[in-house]
Amino acid sequence: MIFPKLKIRNLNIEYPYFLAPLAGVSDSPFRRIANKWGAPITFTEMTSVRGITYSSVSTQKIIHLHPSEKNVGVQLFGAEPEDFRDAVNKIDFSQFVWVDINMGCPVKKVVKTFSGAYLMQYPSKIYAIVKEVRKVIDIPLSVKIRLGWDNTNSPKTLEIANAAIDAGIDAIIVHGRYKNNSYNTPADYHKIGELKSKIDVPVIGNGDIFSYQDLIRLREISNCDGAMIARGALGKPWIFSGLNSEVPYDFVPNKETWFNSIKEHLDYVKEWEGDSNRVWKMMRKHLLWYARGFIGSKEIRKKITSVDNYNNIIEILKEASNI
Ligand SMILES: Cc1cc2nc3c(=O)[nH]c(=O)nc-3n(C[C@H](O)[C@H](O)[C@H](O)COP(=O)(O)O)c2cc1C
Repeated sequence: MIFPKLKIRNLNIEYPYFLAPLAGVSDSPFRRIANKWGAPITFTEMTSVRGITYSSVSTQKIIHLHPSEKNVGVQLFGAEPEDFRDAVNKIDFSQFVWVDINMGCPVKKVVKTFSGAYLMQYPSKIYAIVKEVRKVIDIPLSVKIRLGWDNTNSPKTLEIANAAIDAGIDAIIVHGRYKNNSYNTPADYHKIGELKSKIDVPVIGNGDIFSYQDLIRLREISNCDGAMIARGALGKPWIFSGLNSEVPYDFVPNKETWFNSIKEHLDYVKEWEGDSNRVWKMMRKHLLWYARGFIGSKEIRKKITSVDNYNNIIEILKEASNI
């Protein structure tokens, strides 16, 4: 066991490894698969508070869970405290176990609306937003930040964190990069550790966890309290199963397990999306991740980009796994 058990409010988490919010990816089918493979808590993709207030159809779908889902956190994003206040009064929180507020998304489309990473420049805004949400929420509440806007004169990580802590968060999720860093810059676990040593709320570290060795490195360097995994779970939702073990390891499925898990994912997507073309759009994306590193995957990848029916997918999977 790399991380000790984590207790946050009413939640006891034996293996504190979370599936990250992933826009366009962490929908209900993917969360169900990750959960089956042991992700103790999964997150919805970032959900617009304005979309919730105005009952936009796409937003409603993001916060709609499958009846079998448990241990799901919802991630919210927006710009103004009033927008958060209006939205949190409309959400049925009984279906969720955690609420996170996105304060780290660097995508232009989001920052342009004064949301996501933009907020890290304004600790007083962070404070006001968290305060509004805290008034209504009595389950675990966190903010997900990066190390800051940049590493020059903008508010420092500690200042950003303290604004959220003073307003009442229970934990903080820290992606070890600045807003301007791309994935080419390695996540800085030392900086996550610097923050951890200065604050009293649990710190969930995030960035570049692809194996149990990465998890050990994160824990050893930062002494943080848990880890959030994003890209490491794409095409590898089973990453959680080896981590959730007294002696952690990197689980590698055999062919049958690989086939069956993807087929199950496909069945969930079909159930979720019905007859819509979104089934194939969604599965093409996932299949390309699933095929990564697979023998003969160049050929298989080519076929995947045009799949548009169930049997087609099953054939490709059978061919790829040779079963
Ligand atoms: C496809 C994709 C979608 C993402 N969507 C979100 C999101 O909705 N909310 C969020 O806070 N972060 C989002 N992120 C960032 C991840 O949650 C995570 O912070 C980042 O990828 C670093 O973790 P990793 O190195 O494990 O991938 C997204 C990342 C990817 C690759």
